[in-house]
Amino acid sequence: DLSLKPVLRADLGEMEGIPLTQPICSTWDQVWKFKARPDDLLIATYAKAGTTWTQEIVDMIQQNGDVEKCRRDTTYRRHPFLEWYLPESSGAGYSGLELAEAMPSPRTMKTHLPVQLVPPSFWEQNCKVIYVARNAKDNLVSYYHFHRMNKGLPDPGTWEEFMDKFMAGKVLWGSWYDHVKGWWKAKDKHRILYLFYEDMKENPKREIQKILKFLEKDANQEILNKILHHTSFEMMKENPMANYTKELQDIMDHSVSPFMRKGVVGDWKNHFTVAQNQKFDEDYKKKMADTSLVFRMEL
Ligand code: A3P
Repeated sequence: DLSLKPVLRADLGEMEGIPLTQPICSTWDQVWKFKARPDDLLIATYAKAGTTWTQEIVDMIQQNGDVEKCRRDTTYRRHPFLEWYLPESSGAGYSGLELAEAMPSPRTMKTHLPVQLVPPSFWEQNCKVIYVARNAKDNLVSYYHFHRMNKGLPDPGTWEEFMDKFMAGKVLWGSWYDHVKGWWKAKDKHRILYLFYEDMKENPKREIQKILKFLEKDANQEILNKILHHTSFEMMKENPMANYTKELQDIMDHSVSPFMRKGVVGDWKNHFTVAQNQKFDEDYKKKMADTSLVFRMEL
C-alpha cells in the first residue's frame, strides 16, 4: 500500500539535536505547549527499557488489582503516549496529545523524551514521574529487534551498524547515555522515582512496593500477589491488551520479533562478539565517566 510509505522506514528529523520521527517534529510546538495537570503521572523511559511493564504495574495499582479494568483497552490507549503522532494517512492514526487532552483526570501518560524535551508544564505543576532505566547492552539489543519488527522506525541495518548508531546517539530519541544521565540528575530537583529494569527483574515485589509508596497507595498481600502475577512476563506476553498485537497491525510484525520478546537481563551476551563488547565497554566508560549512575549488566 503506497499510502503507508510516508511513515514506513522513514528517515528521522531532529528537535534540539535529538532525532525524532518526522510526524513528531511536525507537531513539536503543540507537544512543547502541552498543559500538564498537577495530578498527572508521567512514565518516562528510554525506548525498550520496560515501559509497557511499568505501565501495567501502575494500572494494576490504580485499579486496585482489578484485572478486568486493566483489560478496558490496550496499553497504547490506556496511557496516552504523549509525543507520539501518526497521521491518519499512515493507516494507523494516533495522536498522544489528543488522547491526553480528552482524558479525564487523574491521567497517566507515557513518554520517551529526554528530560530537557519534557513539556515545561510538567515541572511547573510539580507532577510525579516514574523513570525506568535499563542497562545499555540489553536496551540496545531490545531496540535492535524492535527496529526489525516495527516498520514505523528507520531500517536498523545490520546488528553492527545499529550498535554504531546507538553508540553515536543517532537513533530515535537520541543518546541512551544522555537520556539516563539527564533523568538521573533531574531526580534531585523534581518528584521523580528512578527505577531499574534489573531491580524489577530481581525483585518485582520490592519494586512494586516502591511504586505504591511513591503513588501514596496501599495494597494488601492479595492485591500485591495479583499485581505480581498479572504483570509477569509470561502473563503479559499472552495478554492482547498489553502485547501490542491489537495495535499497529500494519506496522509491527511480531513474526519478525515479538514485542514481548525475551524479557530477561543479560540477553546481550547472545548478541555481542568479544570484539564488539570490548569496543562498547571502552566507549561506555568515557560516556559514563561523569555520572554516579551504575548499571548491572547481569543478575
Ligand atoms: P526484550 O526485547 O529484551 O524482551 P518497552 O515496553 O519499553 O518497549 O520495553 C520492552 C522490553 O520490555 C522488551 O524487552 C520486553 O520483552 C520487556 N518486557 C515487557 N513486559 C515485561 C515483563 N512483564 N517482564 C519483563 N520484561 C518485560
